[in-house]
Amino acid sequence: MSPTLETIFHHRSIRKYQAKGIPQDVLERVLEAGTRASNTGNMQVYSVVVTQSAEMKAKLSPLHFNQPMIKQAPVVLTVAADVARFQHWCEINGAERSYDNFLWFVCGCIDSMLFAQNIAVAAEAEGLGLCFLGTTLYMAREIAQVLEMPKGVIPITTITMGYPAEEPALSDRLPLKAVVHYETYRKESDEDIRQLYYDTDHSELTKRLLEENQLPNLAQVFTQRRYTKKDNEAISAGLVALLKENRFLE
Ligand SMILES: Cc1cc2nc3c(=O)[nH]c(=O)nc-3n(C[C@H](O)[C@H](O)[C@H](O)COP(=O)(O)O)c2cc1C
Repeated sequence: MSPTLETIFHHRSIRKYQAKGIPQDVLERVLEAGTRASNTGNMQVYSVVVTQSAEMKAKLSPLHFNQPMIKQAPVVLTVAADVARFQHWCEINGAERSYDNFLWFVCGCIDSMLFAQNIAVAAEAEGLGLCFLGTTLYMAREIAQVLEMPKGVIPITTITMGYPAEEPALSDRLPLKAVVHYETYRKESDEDIRQLYYDTDHSELTKRLLEENQLPNLAQVFTQRRYTKKDNEAISAGLVALLKENRFLE
């Protein structure tokens, strides 16, 4: 297997880090690798804020629901969809302002995640460990304020990064045929779905989660505990309001 594929197949999220910092040259190589990702029109409608100080981590930590990785990791990266920089360049060149609409928020999200995933692969190739944090989207408004992001810049994801102090087991994935469709989308029957999720539904981890949550199946752990309808709707409403204030939505 090529070293690149070995890195990819070895991936696991790392949530505990050694105390040692990331040398600046390693950090910059990893960030630069991020910028080599494909991006919309080569406009790079994203930015990243690098947090290393204890003071700024302390401000970010509650906005990530005190997930311990924020304070423990030597480096926290907040990746944002950013049309502000590109629009500024357009403005000083007498070019029409045309990127504050929903399409460009989506393009900013796409560019942000491609940038972030390239960073992730590069970091792991350098022997670093990392974890993405989804709390960024839940608290986007507050995180943008703390990081002093201007209008047109919306935090999309966070990566905590450092040298690993744990080596967890690889987490499971659905069988390839669950996610791959050849030529046209194959619609699954109830039985197909049961089979595709069989290993997930019957894993040791799932058994433990059902016990802990006193629920009959894993799907209900997701809907009743992890990502509830009430939370999903409240977070969506907050995000829509933020996009309106940032002129991405009318
Ligand atoms: C967008 C995104 C958000 C995530 N948010 C969190 C998070 O808030 N906290 C956490 O511990 N892990 C988070 N993760 C990590 C996932 O839980 C993890 O990638 C998944 O369980 C698969 O495990 P693996 O990365 O070890 O293969 C996130 C991953 C992604 C891509």
